Amino acid sequence: MKVMEAEFVKGFIRMAADGWEQGWHERNGGNLSYRIKDEEVESIKEHLKEGEWRDIGTVVPKLAKEYFLVTGSGKYFRNVPLNLENSVCIIELDEKGENYRIVWGMVNGGTPTSELPSHLMNHEVKKELTEGRYRVIYHAHTTNIIALTFVLPLKDEIFTRELWEMATECPVVFPDGVGVVPWMIPGGREIAEATSRLMKTYDLAIWAHHGTFAAGEDFDLTFGLMHTVEKSAEILVKMLSMRPDKRQTIEPEDFRKLADGFQVKLPEKFLYEK
Ligand code: 13P
Ligand code: ZN
Repeated sequence: MKVMEAEFVKGFIRMAADGWEQGWHERNGGNLSYRIKDEEVESIKEHLKEGEWRDIGTVVPKLAKEYFLVTGSGKYFRNVPLNLENSVCIIELDEKGENYRIVWGMVNGGTPTSELPSHLMNHEVKKELTEGRYRVIYHAHTTNIIALTFVLPLKDEIFTRELWEMATECPVVFPDGVGVVPWMIPGGREIAEATSRLMKTYDLAIWAHHGTFAAGEDFDLTFGLMHTVEKSAEILVKMLSMRPDKRQTIEPEDFRKLADGFQVKLPEKFLYEK
């Protein structure tokens, strides 16, 4: 099967196009990775070549010998549907999870996203925690969430609670809450370690003054998660633009009733009295 005909590749392209349409991917902003299933690798194997091994920049032993479809560094989401082979690549990891090689794509040269350490460390955490179910890691420059990182305290509890209050469905969509990483230099191992630590608890990690990481089982769930949290942030920005306080809101007791009704567990640390 041609790479472009594989369902996982079509799903990846659609997600990149959807993210572009949301306005989250100015220039080369954001990046996307998918941990490819064995049978999916098998279905396109005839088209894979062996590139040179290169250092990942971190170590991910639990992802040894896995294959990933990832966006390229400096590449534009806008161009993913228009020129896939120049915008993304498939990489294979070595048997120690220390090096990768490009086996498809990036036809005009280049490397996978500069956030590869964050993507792979997040994949490693999620693979382990979900018995392999999670396959997508998505980083987007979500406008309203970024704006909020200038005005809210950079605390998991506060971001989670404020975002939950903005839309009734939020605690159902991300019952574990969201984590916040303080401003750090992007693209390296340090921010990757901080993010993957949060991914042990949450499916969402906000990078202050930068953007958001989301993790999920498939493209729909991961995009839907990013869309939901960013929409909630948009409502909060609008609310704060009208007045600094809320006249009425969803109260801790309401969240507890919601948790019962929807059979989700909402950690009490987010339901503090204000
Ligand atoms: P890349 O083009 O290397 O993926 O970087 C974009 C980005 O959003 C960095 O955080
Ligand atoms: Zn970024």
